[in-house]
This record gives sequence, structure tokens and C-alpha cells, in this order.
Amino acid sequence: MLIDGHGRKVDYLRISLTERCNFRCQYCMPEKPFSWIPKENILSFEELFMFVKVAIDEGVTKIRLTGGEPLLREDIAKFIKMINDYKSDIDLALTTNGYLLGGMARELKDAGLQRINISLDSLKPDIAAKIANKDVLEKVMYGIEQAIDVGLNVKLNMVPLKDINEDEIVDILEFSMSKNVKVRFIEYMENSHANIELRGMHGREILDHILKKYEIKAMGREGSSPSFNYRILQNGYEFGMIDPHKHDFCESCNRIRLTAEGYLIPCLFFDEAMSIAEAIKQKDIKKASEILGEVLKNKPKENRWSENDENLSSRAFYHTGG
Ligand code: 5AD
Ligand code: SF4
Repeated sequence: MLIDGHGRKVDYLRISLTERCNFRCQYCMPEKPFSWIPKENILSFEELFMFVKVAIDEGVTKIRLTGGEPLLREDIAKFIKMINDYKSDIDLALTTNGYLLGGMARELKDAGLQRINISLDSLKPDIAAKIANKDVLEKVMYGIEQAIDVGLNVKLNMVPLKDINEDEIVDILEFSMSKNVKVRFIEYMENSHANIELRGMHGREILDHILKKYEIKAMGREGSSPSFNYRILQNGYEFGMIDPHKHDFCESCNRIRLTAEGYLIPCLFFDEAMSIAEAIKQKDIKKASEILGEVLKNKPKENRWSENDENLSSRAFYHTGG
């Protein structure tokens, strides 16, 4: 079992398969980065899988593939199958912007993917295009439809932003209700790579929009999830709120992140990281396991996003996955 320096059990690994993305979301990567990680530094699926086995053998039961945009990584279904063949009861999930999903949903499901989170920030083509810096809505909608059709367990993610998509909070809630999928509203997390003019919304402000139309009941968190659930009393529909500015979920944090070039990152907010790339390239599994132990020992107690929005993280979301 993996236990961190604060006594938390860690059983959830998130792997960012690539930092590259076909969107330029204002809250993540409004402009192409100055340089991409050189191709030769990106770990192959075989190399990543070596670490996945270490993690599973030591107690990881849940794996999420993220990016950048993970569906840009060629043969991703093959990687999903490798993990699924190694341990079929692993809880295997993926986070995507949905753009390439329409043509891939069946293949991903057949490879063993169970759950998928898709970003949906607007139902208006021009606003979706403004946020992602690209005309994306039609393809994303098709991706959502296909994911539901092939039987993936779908969740939608919305990041509400002041004066941009704030007026669509209830629309996106109702769209999700109509599709019978869960939506989670995510507070914008300030970071130095985002568009500096963006203004996020606090969980309380997001709820205020919903309260104008619906009565809600606070239900609580599911296990170690950062998402706090609310139930709409009129129809029983449940949605989630991810509010890192309160960071009360840090006390039950169960996750560790691995980047495409092999950095293990203990917390989304901080720059601290240790690389397992050398150990993996030398097939030194024991060393990789020791580095994992070291990173867990030093996992921070909590993030530093603050209630007054003063603290910026310098970590890029497209390196670590959201
Ligand atoms: N703040 C909040 N969420 C973010 N994401 C990316 N960048 C940010 C940010 N700065 C989340 C989005 C997207 C997921 C991939 O990561 O919700 O859906
Ligand atoms: Fe790409 Fe996701 Fe970042 Fe948007 S939030 S730019 S889709 S990695």
C-alpha cells in the first residue's frame, strides 16, 4: 500500500500522455508554449507501462489518462488495453476535450476504458470558440453523443468564467440532466500560463446561479473525490462542484501524477517533481519504486490556491492534466 508523509493512502495515478493539445483554452494554454518537450524525451507506452505495473503492484487501483489532449497520442487504445490486460478490475478513466472522440469512442471502450470526462464550457458555438480559440462545439457534441452511445460512463466538466460563460451555468446543468450524465463545475485555478485577464468564479457564485432556478441539497464528497455533490430537490439530479480555493479536499487527497516525460508530481499547485525517466530507461524497477516512495514522502499537505485569488500556480495544466 502507498502511504504519503501525511498518512494519506495513495491509490490513484493520473498520467499525462502528452502536453500537446489541439485547443488553446484561455484557462490553460492560450498560446502555443515557447517550446514543446523534445519528442525523444517523451516516454513510450512500453516505458510508461513499466511504471504503471510498479504503481499497480504497490496498490494503485485507479488510473486516469490526461494531457494536454490524450487522444492526440497515437495508439492510445493499445495502451489502455495493456493496462486492462494487466489488471482488468482497474478503474480506468480518461479526460479529453472531446474533439477527436467521435471517431474513437468505440475503440476506446473496446480496449477497456470505463469512464470518460469531457470538457464542455459552452453550448454556444461562438463562446466555445472564444474559450478554446477554435471552432470546436460541433465536434465536441458529436464526441459526447458517441461516448454515451457506446456505453462509456460520461461526466462533463465546465469551468465557469466571469462575463464569458457565466450565463450558461444553468444551461449546461440542464443539458447534462437531459443526457442523464453528471456535470461538475470546476473553479478556475489561477496559473501563470493562462490568459491574465480571465476572472474565475467561486463555488458559491456558481451555486447562486443554480439557486435562482432550483432548490439544492448538499450531499457531500464521494470518498477521496475533490468533487462535492449537490442534489436538485425538484428532480433528484446530482451534480458536482470542484472548489480548490477551499482546499478542504486536500486532507483526503489520494492521487499522484506522472507526466509524459516521466516526472512524478505530488501536487497540482506546486513545481516540485522527481523524474523516474532514467530509472525506467535502465529498467531499474526498484529505483523507480524508491523514487515513488520519496515523492510520496514529500507530498504537500494542501494546495495554495487562496480564497482571495491571490496565489498563482506556475505549473502548466497542460503538463500535468487538470
Ligand atoms: N482551472 C480549472 N480547470 C482547468 N482545467 C484546465 N485548466 C484549468 C484551470 N486553469 C481543466 C478543465 C478541463 C480539464 C482538462 O482541465 O476542466 O476540462
Ligand atoms: Fe487543451 Fe485541455 Fe488545456 Fe484546453 S484545458 S488547452 S483542451 S489541455
